[in-house]
Amino acid sequence: MTFRVLTHSPEETDRLGHALGVLLRAGDVLLLQGTLGTGKTLLTQGIAKGMGISDPVTSPTFILANQYDGPLTLYHIDLYRIEATAEAIDLGLDDYFYGEGVCVVEWPARAMSAMPLEYLHVTLEHVDETERNLMFHAKGTHYEELSVELESAWRTSRPASTRPSA
Ligand SMILES: Nc1ncnc2c1ncn2[C@@H]1O[C@H](COP(=O)(O)OP(=O)(O)O)[C@@H](O)[C@H]1O
Ligand SMILES: [Mg+2]
Repeated sequence: MTFRVLTHSPEETDRLGHALGVLLRAGDVLLLQGTLGTGKTLLTQGIAKGMGISDPVTSPTFILANQYDGPLTLYHIDLYRIEATAEAIDLGLDDYFYGEGVCVVEWPARAMSAMPLEYLHVTLEHVDETERNLMFHAKGTHYEELSVELESAWRTSRPASTRPSA
């Protein structure tokens, strides 16, 4: 199942990330796919805040993974520079995926076969200067439940004026 959100500002993407972050549990894996500037890192910043992490999240551009400690640990992984799946496997990604933390992976398509079998996949698209289209696609029962929870949390958190009429 797929859940779609159109955000109208960086702040709204941050809020969406926050709504997702509060729902996360140990071992959760989120894959964020989208070209540069679509909001993957911004969404991750909101996720971290929702997880109760106070340290600011930055882009892990020159290293594979940044670790943020909080009530739950966040591993922010960026595969932008990965050239082949084998490289991802060599880097020991499984230690992150099957650990106790939450993993957020930017550019998972670089090494899809090194990803776990179940995850929440988010595709981010640039619509215009201030709008981004985010599509959530769940793989596995746990992530289907997570995506349903997110959809209802998001629907009830928004002021009525911004909701599309039924
Ligand atoms: N609705 C929106 N959601 C997210 N980012 C937005 C939005 N509108 C404009 N932006 C801008 O797009 C950029 C997204 O940057 P970033 O999160 O680093 O992207 P990525 O990690 O995908 O390369 C930021 O400069 C942000 O201000
Ligand atoms: Mg980024």
